[in-house]
Amino acid sequence: MNVQTKIKRLPRYTSYPTALEFKELGAHKYATWLTSLKNDEHLSLYIHIPYCSKLCWFCGCFMKVVNKYDVVAKYVDALVQEIALVAQHSGAEIVSHVHFGGGSPTILAPEHFKKIMDTVRANFTITPDAEIAVEIDPRTLSEDKVKAYAKSGVNRVSIGIQDFNADVQTAINRIQSQQLIEECIRWLTNQGIDKINFDLVYGLPHQTISSIKNTVSKAAKLKPDRISLFGYAHVPWVKKHMKMINSEDLPNGKSRLVMFKLASAILLAEGYDAIGLDHFALPKDELSLAKKKGSLRRNFQGYTTDNAGTLIGLGVSSISSFNEGFAKNTSSIKDYIANISKAELPVEHGLRTSTNDLMRREIISDLMCFSRFNPHAVAERHGVNENFAKEQSALAKLISEGILQKNQDTYQLTKKGSHYRRAVATIFDEYFPQNIDIFDRCILESDG
Ligand SMILES: C[S@@+](CC[C@H](N)C(=O)[O-])C[C@H]1O[C@@H](n2cnc3c(N)ncnc32)[C@H](O)[C@@H]1O
Ligand code: SF4
Repeated sequence: MNVQTKIKRLPRYTSYPTALEFKELGAHKYATWLTSLKNDEHLSLYIHIPYCSKLCWFCGCFMKVVNKYDVVAKYVDALVQEIALVAQHSGAEIVSHVHFGGGSPTILAPEHFKKIMDTVRANFTITPDAEIAVEIDPRTLSEDKVKAYAKSGVNRVSIGIQDFNADVQTAINRIQSQQLIEECIRWLTNQGIDKINFDLVYGLPHQTISSIKNTVSKAAKLKPDRISLFGYAHVPWVKKHMKMINSEDLPNGKSRLVMFKLASAILLAEGYDAIGLDHFALPKDELSLAKKKGSLRRNFQGYTTDNAGTLIGLGVSSISSFNEGFAKNTSSIKDYIANISKAELPVEHGLRTSTNDLMRREIISDLMCFSRFNPHAVAERHGVNENFAKEQSALAKLISEGILQKNQDTYQLTKKGSHYRRAVATIFDEYFPQNIDIFDRCILESDG
């Protein structure tokens, strides 16, 4: 069977239900959820900066290339108004986590970054130990920007490295030298920003076993606290610019698995702990400690220590997550700016979560974060009468193939199974077409 004709990729389960299930949701629902937040509840803020100065052909993010800074400045005006508008509706005001993502937050001029953070501080109370993180495109960073981050309280950054190899960089239209990365790290640490993550990607065009070995070894020698090792998601039918990458230059599913195993082995040998699907962290890092403590979580950025009950997404296309459901801002920058200018919350889509969704979310989260799950115990905790009869045959097949093992009511991923984490999660995903054979789902996972 050609499974590609049915579904092309497995979800990465940064949320459950996934954003694919979002339907129309009125801004009034979002306003109700915001208003009903309890005063002492902690919030996490995600701030989306959708602009970049150059297009990377491998990019899967929601972004737009701009040549004129005026466009960015206009967006910042709308963003600060949105922050104030959301704060007016919100019943809660304590913020324990702020994340600037993109696109490229580094495109912001220092005064604009400061303006956004000043607006957050004027409208919310940021806890003294809050994590304030920024995604960094090294090519648009400067020492002045780093100084503005430090003054605004930034204490963690993730640097987009992707790959150190020149052929790979050419093939993805993203040239950046190792010297540039080292200079960025110097600027950051000089300003006391020393919690550093690297983003690496495997499965990119022209990557080979030896080039991956070289990139991962170089990255590990620079000793960032965390390394994300994302599998390249090639989706040219969604992101048209990916057609600039010749699919014949991409490593196949088998090579991708070898690359991931090799990269993991290098990182483990360099003293990193493996965190779930695609993250590695030094044992002293909070992510590693959270895994050991059982408090690790997953959000739209991947694995996190953020344990705020509610996430508020600010900026175009950003998603808010409440106990009651998800609310997504419009993906049109024009509509976003128009909504904000009328003091309207720019939410368009979302989903109300059911008790069944919350139960399945917890099972999938246990699997993604801790490689084990006890569906019956979770169902009982949520007061759901569910015996998981539909899931039994796929689970039994995976046990017989050595992907899962079962001890009383708890299922555990084996070492082999750790490469099929998302495929196992689909068994509990009520929105995933269950007529696709579980082994075909495992093949899809290797392919990206
Ligand atoms: C929004 S970008 C990071 C910030 C900044 N714009 C940069 O590129 O350095 C977040 C990360 O997503 C990852 N990423 C982007 N497109 C991807 C894709 N198609 N497949 C897998 N990972 C991807 C990259 O590692 C990138 O660093
Ligand atoms: S990878 Fe980062 S810098 Fe490159 S286009 Fe995407 S968001 Fe922009």
